[in-house]
Amino acid sequence: MNLILLGPPGAGKGTQAKMLIEAYGIPQISTGDMLRAAVRNQTALGLEAKKFMDAGQLVPDQVVIGLAQDRIAQPDCAKGFMLDGFPRTVPQAQALDKVLAGMGKKIDHVISIEVANDELMGRLTGRRTCKSCGQGFHVMFDPPKAQGQCDKCGGELYQRDDDNEATVGNRLKVYNDQTAPLIDYYQKKGLLRPIDGVGGINDIQERIKAVLG
Ligand code: AP5
Ligand code: MG
Repeated sequence: MNLILLGPPGAGKGTQAKMLIEAYGIPQISTGDMLRAAVRNQTALGLEAKKFMDAGQLVPDQVVIGLAQDRIAQPDCAKGFMLDGFPRTVPQAQALDKVLAGMGKKIDHVISIEVANDELMGRLTGRRTCKSCGQGFHVMFDPPKAQGQCDKCGGELYQRDDDNEATVGNRLKVYNDQTAPLIDYYQKKGLLRPIDGVGGINDIQERIKAVLG
């Protein structure tokens, strides 16, 4: 099963993807996580991407298309994959269609997680993420058992550089301008599965599973 998780920053794409990995046995492909790893490793790509990420802007299409394409070709994606945060522009979606067609694959469902703008700021500024395993938490809505420490692996929790109010504001605007058109793009293809993204994290997981079967 090949999925896309679509939704604004803070909608819960990463949170739900981590739960779906276990439920469906398919990997999460987060271009955001891949870019942050490149920034940490100070690769040329990472240094270039950081400027865009810190400003809340999108990294150029050609860069992320290349990353996603290479990742989808890995053997662990043979039985399916979940794209989290890709595609984010119409040219990215068109490139993905081409790449998949070339591999004899297609997208089965686009899970569109819907959360109103006014809830997203609080979710993002309160987010904490594990440095070791990438598990996400929230200081109020999903707090770790021990402060600053990951429940899953004991790793150290950190706050993302782009989770400050100014950058989140830009990210939300960029989403509305450049990514929201994908809702219509996938609606027209009959692939859009809208999910109400407000409520308990487990309830939202059940809503997604009800759609996926
Ligand atoms: P990326 O890492 O993809 O960030 P994003 O799309 O802005 O999305 P987030 O990761 O912030 O949100 P999420 O939906 O995963 O929410 P989460 O589950 O963590 O991209 C970062 C940057 O990389 C971009 O700005 C861009 O520069 C670049 N980039 C990446 N991909 C790109 C691409 N394809 N093209 C170009 N550039 C690209 O949840 C958020 C918080 O809310 C957590 O604390 C969580 O605990 C909490 N939460 C989750 N669910 C609930 C709930 N139901 N109720 C209350 N709280 C909840
Ligand atoms: Mg995420």
